[in-house]
Amino acid sequence: MSEPPLPSAGWQVEQNASEAYEQYLVPSIFASWADQLIESSDVHEGDRILDVACGTGIVARHAASRVGASGSVVGVDINEGMLTVAKEIAADIQPSIAWRQADATDLPFSGEQFDIVCCQQAVQFFDDPVTVVGEMRRVLTTGGRVALSVWRPLEYQPGYVVLADALARYIGDHAGEMMRSPFPEWDADTIQTFVREGGFEDVSITIEIGSVRYPSVEEFVRREAASSPLAEQIAAVSREVRDDLVREVETALHAYIDDEGVVSPLESYVVIAERKQ
Ligand SMILES: C[S@@+](CC[C@H](N)C(=O)[O-])C[C@H]1O[C@@H](n2cnc3c(N)ncnc32)[C@H](O)[C@@H]1O
Repeated sequence: MSEPPLPSAGWQVEQNASEAYEQYLVPSIFASWADQLIESSDVHEGDRILDVACGTGIVARHAASRVGASGSVVGVDINEGMLTVAKEIAADIQPSIAWRQADATDLPFSGEQFDIVCCQQAVQFFDDPVTVVGEMRRVLTTGGRVALSVWRPLEYQPGYVVLADALARYIGDHAGEMMRSPFPEWDADTIQTFVREGGFEDVSITIEIGSVRYPSVEEFVRREAASSPLAEQIAAVSREVRDDLVREVETALHAYIDDEGVVSPLESYVVIAERKQ
């Protein structure tokens, strides 16, 4: 995996947004939430785990360290670039993780094969969450559990409110929408409803509050942009536009800047449900 460009080199077009995702967003955001999701889903040695929409595989990797040689882990994602990075990173992990490219609405497994199905921060991107939850239930054994996480709405994520507004102003409305898209306008009732419609009866939802930290506002903007679907387009703006954008984010996030950079609260729903029959 390539080194990040030096800040003095300005915004560079990242070679690969999936690599940038693994390099920047996984350590600062997704790794600690993966730990918590695995903890909440109560993974045991010998469990068979499926990580749906696994991205570069952070949840699958954490699960593998828990299940031991008698367990197994499979990661599924629709995006080939994410899976390429996932395979590369996990090459030496035991038990080895199997990776499959597939759409979560049509999981490539027969029924009742897994003890736990995890899905970290992806349900919000599915056109039809009920169908996907139904698929997760289908592949679970009786007594198996699904563990999902989904960010709370944007208003609970102050850093991203500011970043999305600045991207909309300096890059375009579509860039603002892209940065808002991980934070659906769902409350716990909305999530309860679609998880129940997917076939689960007992659904437990907790609100977890964490944070995200970057060494500077410039790095917050650069790393988030580089790991995003609009990486190349955002990287192509002029230095003047980039500097104005960063200054605007710095001003708006003034209250969150400290001696170690910038920090912002980050809130997520964590959903656990068991397949009863
Ligand atoms: C924000 S990333 C989360 C990745 C990973 N779960 C993690 O925690 O790092 C969302 C992932 O959902 C995947 N995804 C979106 N729609 C999908 C679908 N219909 N089927 C499978 N994967 C999908 C994307 O390719 C992407 O890897």
